[in-house]
Amino acid sequence: MILVTGGTGYIGSHTCVALMNAGYHVAILDNLCNSRIEVLNRLARLCPVRPDFVEGDVRDPSVLDSVFARYPISAVVHFAGLKAVGDSVKNPLAYYDNNVNGSVQLLRAMQRANVKTFVFSSTATVYAGPFDEALRESDRLGASQPYGHSKLVVEEILADLQSAEPDWRIACLRYFNPVGAHESGLIGESPLGAPNNLMPYLAQVASGMREFLNVWGNDYATPDGTGVRDYLHVMDLAEAHLAALHHLQTVTSLSTKPLTLNLGTGQGYSVLEVVHAFEQASGQKIGRQFAPRRAGDIAQYWADPGLAKQVLGWQAKRGLQEMCADTWRWQLHSAKDGEPS
Ligand code: NAD
Ligand code: UD1
Repeated sequence: MILVTGGTGYIGSHTCVALMNAGYHVAILDNLCNSRIEVLNRLARLCPVRPDFVEGDVRDPSVLDSVFARYPISAVVHFAGLKAVGDSVKNPLAYYDNNVNGSVQLLRAMQRANVKTFVFSSTATVYAGPFDEALRESDRLGASQPYGHSKLVVEEILADLQSAEPDWRIACLRYFNPVGAHESGLIGESPLGAPNNLMPYLAQVASGMREFLNVWGNDYATPDGTGVRDYLHVMDLAEAHLAALHHLQTVTSLSTKPLTLNLGTGQGYSVLEVVHAFEQASGQKIGRQFAPRRAGDIAQYWADPGLAKQVLGWQAKRGLQEMCADTWRWQLHSAKDGEPS
């Protein structure tokens, strides 16, 4: 059985679908600080069985011990954490507590339970740049804000742990820009309040919830002057977790370092390219205006996903049109149901 922390959240819920449809049994631990219990009903419709669920906090050792005592857990996929860069600048302690302390508590509970296979949600935000070529795992690291730093600290903790105890099997997966939703339209991303990220904002403009998109900057040194990112369909990302887990569980030679992999498509798209793709997918005209650059934004970055292909045999299959079409389907379903995930 696989313990999925943060499994009712955006990426976690899609990964549960991939895991359960591949035959894994799943127990979710989530404190519901950024997701809804209704997601479990949706997962029950998308999967052969309903996942087990424990409402609780990864920072609570007694909750963790009871989860490991109750279920025959063989591996942990750790999504639980806080993820808003701007919020992390205002509330750094909340980010270090949730993301760093939460991971340490979880790893200690795993030690107590003798469970040593661990997949960690990291981010492309750990790269320091320069960003003029595809980013590789060996590139320079450094984060300019608490969110990214909290992820980097956990990566370093995992490296120390793996070096001290080589029988651990650890993967750090650095996600680029996850977008889209399950093709059913039953689960997706539901940001609280006005979305910060491009794709959910576009979906709300297309549906008439917001008047227009602010395009943050059109004077970058990119082909059309707007920011370029490596957008990745969340179901491709979910399938990468499945591949990473399978790899960790079956690899025969133990390693002294965590397996660290970029997860992206390797293809960058500009804001305007995404806007055009979303107009096509939704059939809606999207109002937009150019606005000054957003503080802290980088002109462009995209992944070299070659190592993930080499090691896991994984590569993203879904393109920008599918990312936009699935986001739009989720937007229509969630607006109709009035029940975001
Ligand atoms: P999300 O907020 O949708 O999901 C996180 C889940 O964790 C939520 O269900 C939340 O309720 C739960 N949670 C938070 N703190 C918890 C705690 N202390 N104990 C138990 N549960 C807790 O976020 P997401 O987009 O699904 O991201 C999942 C992971 O991937 C996060 O660690 C995030 O930092 C990382 N990540 C996300 C992105 C992205 O763009 N979404 C990019 C890179 C990395
Ligand atoms: C942001 C986070 C990053 C996180 C990622 C998740 C910051 C600084 N970085 O990255 O840590 O991993 O989300 O996907 O917050 N844009 C607009 N108008 C909008 C929204 C966005 O023009 O209303 C532009 C941005 O300037 C950028 C691109 O769209 O060029 C993508 O933005 P966004 O979706 O927020 O992702 P990132 O900035 O890459």
